[in-house]
Amino acid sequence: MVEAAPHVRGLGRLVGNPSVTKSDNIVSVAQLTLSSKNPTATKADALIIGVAKTSDGAAIIGDQLPPEFVQQLETLSTTLSITGAPDEVRKLPAPEAVSAGVLVLTGLGERDDEGAFKAETLRRAAGAAIREVAGSASAVIALPTLSDDDVAAVAEGALLGAYAISGLKSDEEAIAKAAPVETIEINTQFTRSQRAKAAAERAEVLAEAVHATRDLVNTPSNLLFPATFAEAAKAAVKDATAKGAKGLKVTVLDDRALLAGGYGGIMGVGQGSARPPRLVKVAYTPAKASGDMAQIGLIGKGITFDTGGISIKPSASMEQMTMDMAGAAAVLHTTIAAARLALPVAVTAYLCLAENMPGGGAMRPGDVITIRGGKTVEVINTDAEGRLVMADGLVAAIEDGHDTVIDIATLTGAQMAALGARTAGVMGTDCVRTALHEAAEAAGESNWPMLLPDYLATGLKSNVADMMNVSNERLAGMQVAGLFLSKFVGDTPWGHLDIAGPAWNTGSPYGYLGKAATGYGVRTLLKYLETRAA
Ligand code: BES
Ligand code: MN
Ligand code: ZN
Repeated sequence: MVEAAPHVRGLGRLVGNPSVTKSDNIVSVAQLTLSSKNPTATKADALIIGVAKTSDGAAIIGDQLPPEFVQQLETLSTTLSITGAPDEVRKLPAPEAVSAGVLVLTGLGERDDEGAFKAETLRRAAGAAIREVAGSASAVIALPTLSDDDVAAVAEGALLGAYAISGLKSDEEAIAKAAPVETIEINTQFTRSQRAKAAAERAEVLAEAVHATRDLVNTPSNLLFPATFAEAAKAAVKDATAKGAKGLKVTVLDDRALLAGGYGGIMGVGQGSARPPRLVKVAYTPAKASGDMAQIGLIGKGITFDTGGISIKPSASMEQMTMDMAGAAAVLHTTIAAARLALPVAVTAYLCLAENMPGGGAMRPGDVITIRGGKTVEVINTDAEGRLVMADGLVAAIEDGHDTVIDIATLTGAQMAALGARTAGVMGTDCVRTALHEAAEAAGESNWPMLLPDYLATGLKSNVADMMNVSNERLAGMQVAGLFLSKFVGDTPWGHLDIAGPAWNTGSPYGYLGKAATGYGVRTLLKYLETRAA
């Protein structure tokens, strides 16, 4: 029953589809180089320059640029009412003294108290400018880099901005116009710094992971369903292994194995679909495994489409539920990135894959299911399905003996009501929650800690089973979902990320993010793993 997946970059290529076209083989990240040459003399389609906002108006930031050129640009900025605000990007014809075809001025906002720009400011300025020059082949970025970390930030922002959803359009002209920049040169004094070089290489691995996550999340649900997702995971591991990653192993539990193993959450949610569920484990074991090495389980929600099931969702915006597997995609590609960077931590990703459909075999409200390990759940609302598949995944991860488990899921609409579209909720054991918050800050992803007070769990009490899957309490839906999951982790240190909002950009593009899938979570999780490795 595996349907054809023509043209889908990532998926079409990864599942070995016979109708793969040339555009399926686009490299997934731009080529990156560091250079200290005068950027005005470098041949490229675009030269990207930063503009800061100051009390006396816009200021061109360009120690690398000839002073008379800077002067000229500042006059021009005033004439054109350029302010230097973040996300303000202006394309200008390049003056004669510049070898590049166009000049792109990108807003940096105000300097911080130390006279520098925050890492996230640099990422966004670089990414917004790179998005603006989509359709051209090459760009030189001359943003201020005062440290190796600044080089890392510019590299990350630029590579993350060089992304386009591809493979689903047939209009070659439209494809070419939106194609991401292929080669990026970052102008910096740190070309000989080993740390800067390592940062650039890490940025490439990171961006590949984020892009691969976005590709999966952007893939429509007729093409990406549990079986093809499992194939895509195997293919992604094979690809990483071919690129030199060591220690990756994939195990796929199909519906027969899930039934036999008592995975009642994943099976229950998947039983209304003609396309059966899967649990995919992707384990990374470092070459030099040591006894005191961290061992971390990452559990991802992988609902390849969420109709709500019998408790069906309204049709308005239901098409967005193609993104309800963003957590599973993030844990898959974080684990692969950890292997590619040869981090000295053991990591296993658990992809809890099911399609939530209202078919003839679907769960009914009132059904009682048994999660792996024996706890029973009365399913009051079949649309609260994420917590059911995640409960199985958490139990499986804890059985495997990890010292920490972290789950990531597009779990509740309440997350967006509480924190908005750009900030995830982070919950769990104090130490893991705090570490995940700090990792997110460092990585340039936004999350905010939320309480899990016991009293909110009393509403989950069931007359017939150990608990219900939704609460009688209408308030604090994000925390109630977190409390539901907490019932399955025992005393294992645990973190929970609710990414319903930030996984998918329904608004306009900004910074290094386009519309639709953002790849949210990969950067936070990778930073967390790196911290545990240090
Ligand atoms: N996948 C949804 C949550 C979601 C909503 C993610 C919007 C992204 C955007 C989840 O399965 C769901 O339906 N949650 C319900 C839970 C409720 C029935 C307790 C919700 O939030 O409405
Ligand atoms: Mn749902
Ligand atoms: Zn869902």
